[in-house]
Amino acid sequence: MARAPAFACTACGAVHAKWSGRCEACGAWNTLVEDVPMTHRAPARGSGAPRGRRTMALSDLGADEPPPPRERSGIAEFDRVLGGGLVRGSAILLGGDPGIGKSTLLLQAGAAFARAGLAALYVSGEEATAQIRLRAQRLGLTDAPLRLGAETALDTVLSTLDAERPDLAVIDSVQTMWLEGIGAAPGSVAQVRAVAQEAVAFAKRRGTAVILVGHVTKEGQIAGPMVVEHLVDCVLYFEGERGHQFRLLRAVKNRFGPTGEIGVFEMTGTGLAEVPNPSALFLSERGQPAPGAAVFAGIEGTRPMLAELQALVAPSGLSQPRRTVVGLDPGRLAMILAVLEARCGIPFAGLDVFLNVAGGLRIAEPAADLAVAAALLSAREDVALPSDMVFFGEIGLSGALRPVAQAENRLKEAAKLGFTSAVAPPRSAAAAVPGIAVRETPDLAGLVGDMFGAG
Ligand code: TYD
Ligand code: MG
Repeated sequence: MARAPAFACTACGAVHAKWSGRCEACGAWNTLVEDVPMTHRAPARGSGAPRGRRTMALSDLGADEPPPPRERSGIAEFDRVLGGGLVRGSAILLGGDPGIGKSTLLLQAGAAFARAGLAALYVSGEEATAQIRLRAQRLGLTDAPLRLGAETALDTVLSTLDAERPDLAVIDSVQTMWLEGIGAAPGSVAQVRAVAQEAVAFAKRRGTAVILVGHVTKEGQIAGPMVVEHLVDCVLYFEGERGHQFRLLRAVKNRFGPTGEIGVFEMTGTGLAEVPNPSALFLSERGQPAPGAAVFAGIEGTRPMLAELQALVAPSGLSQPRRTVVGLDPGRLAMILAVLEARCGIPFAGLDVFLNVAGGLRIAEPAADLAVAAALLSAREDVALPSDMVFFGEIGLSGALRPVAQAENRLKEAAKLGFTSAVAPPRSAAAAVPGIAVRETPDLAGLVGDMFGAG
């Protein structure tokens, strides 16, 4: 037997023999907690045929594998993120901050699947059935044939599922469920991992699609969904900024579909509403053209998405001027500022810089570089950019613009929303998009000269 691990990291799930203040695997601080070794229901190894006698079935690369059948909820944003619908027998983790709307989303999705003819069951370890019914009333779901249960003992949940044989079971949440025989509290690494293992094994055994809810918290006491991520087939994250009504459902892992795919929802008084045209939503609050605002033609997953970047540049009284970024990588801002200074001779020393993505969207694409630079220059020069212009392109350290993927889709989306010109890297206009004039710009100095007549 291998030595029993004694401490697990709640952030990444790595196990360590000794406690330390910092997880050596992921570098997080204060995340190691005592872990109970997995003795619970471990499969009896070597109890079958004599070792070395069993062989496995082999097949060819070219063998015909039919795609797994998909069940659709009819909530298009949800089905698309799953990769075109729910796969029977798959295990899915839905992670997200507490209060972001995970229970609401899954109650709506569960009801939609039930209406579509699937036997669906929603088990809550967090709320009483009366509470869930109240929510269902508010969401207008009371007529859906979705079965409800309130329970925290996973053994009881799984026995019930065994008897009911549903097509879909939602378990809300993995942190409230517990298994007997694990000497640890619900929400601990040991419990969360064991609960997830049992639930995933059940999904595979019975062909029931199981959706596990996992809260993401930064506190060390509660095991983050990271512990569960490698056990499941599909990991979805539900995210959004507090104070903003829109929510993004993002697939970060999917054995049955593409990752990076997103679904956009809006939290309303009557639950989550699909947002079929997110660009329009993110640009809806745009007023008169103001200095510092630039529209980025982005791509999230497979969908084009336009967003407004806003920059503010002001003289600083601080010896270390402020660099405040919301919705973008601060490292990227630092790089763009350095390139503007080194390659275009435009210094930002002595100036505070604030950068924000309107609407609370988070952008991870390097393709946003050019829009960031345009917003910064516009703010610094106090000159508004044309209101019908979009930007995209990655900036290299030399100041050169690199082409980015899906230029055509970006341009099409911009044209659809009434934009008439785009500033983009070379070779972006290979396929002309009607209604939009593309100014191909080789480098950042070109942008500066083009837009502001300086350089
Ligand atoms: P919830 O689904 O309970 O979040 P989670 O399961 O991720 O913890 O969502 C809770 C929030 O959603 C709560 O702040 C209220 C809000 N909400 C609405 O705005 N409209 C609604 O119709 C519902 C049901 C919830
Ligand atoms: Mg909840």
